Amino acid sequence: MPAALAPVRPRLADRILKASGVLWFVAAFAGQAAFILFILAFYGVRTLSGNWAGWNDKPLIEGHVAGDDVGNSVFALHVLLASVMTLCGLMQLIPQLRRAQPPLHRWTGRIFLTLAAVMALSGVWLTTVRGTFLSEISAAAILLDAVLILVFAALTLRNAVMRRIEIHRRWAMRTFMAASGVWFLRVGIMGWVLINQAPIGMNDTMSGPADVVLGFGCYLIPLALLELYFRAGRSQGVWPKLGVAALVAAAAAFTALGVFGAVALMWLPYL
Ligand code: HEM
Repeated sequence: MPAALAPVRPRLADRILKASGVLWFVAAFAGQAAFILFILAFYGVRTLSGNWAGWNDKPLIEGHVAGDDVGNSVFALHVLLASVMTLCGLMQLIPQLRRAQPPLHRWTGRIFLTLAAVMALSGVWLTTVRGTFLSEISAAAILLDAVLILVFAALTLRNAVMRRIEIHRRWAMRTFMAASGVWFLRVGIMGWVLINQAPIGMNDTMSGPADVVLGFGCYLIPLALLELYFRAGRSQGVWPKLGVAALVAAAAAFTALGVFGAVALMWLPYL
């Protein structure tokens, strides 16, 4: 490479890598905003108007159960807080907001971490105590996600308290990915079904080969891509940056397809 080009190419590669991240974020932002709107319009309206039985107007494993006041209350708490947690998580990722409103960023960060832990614990209760799961393997997948959310949230907090800001930022991103697992699962299912034009490798108990890959992959794949993104950002080489940028751009295209499917087939029909 001519010496004059040497400093230019890494900078261009950095810009391409960053652009791929922004592309993914735009698709994820649209999809998470749609998820929040769906939760508020479907669960929010029914719960606050006292029509808890109306949760079952959409397919669920176990939503409202007559006479199960504790189970119904935990379910209500879980679904309603899902919208607040998702909103706070999204707000954390907008750099302009972070720079313009640091106190707001700190507060939404605290709320996000607390609610991520509440979501994980209430989810574990719904799965293990209420017994809401389709198969052992799908329960194992979501329970592992809950463990990761709790561990990552604790490490995010610990590093913030110790003022290790860069490490804190990385654990916060990992917590976001793990806490977005159930959202990725919906997007992943719809992306897979749309690509194949059929639910290949899936069954009614979420224990088919594709179900298992999606069940664990809905948080392990985003977490692996995030690690690659961090490493490519630190790398001095052009090719690692471009390779990871291509992977993240492909993930953005898949996310956009899955978001389209989730909105069109999972959420809009029930509003
Ligand atoms: C942390 C992020 C989480 C979010 C944003 C979230 C969101 C939601 C939402 C929106 C529902 C309603 C179901 C639907 O409309 O499809 C739901 C149900 C449920 N969630 Fe979560 N959840 C999270 C974490 C978890 C975890 C970690 C577990 C288990 C360990 C869990 C277990 C459950 C169960 C068992 C149900 C009932 C499912 C059904 O009856 O079909 N959730 N969750």
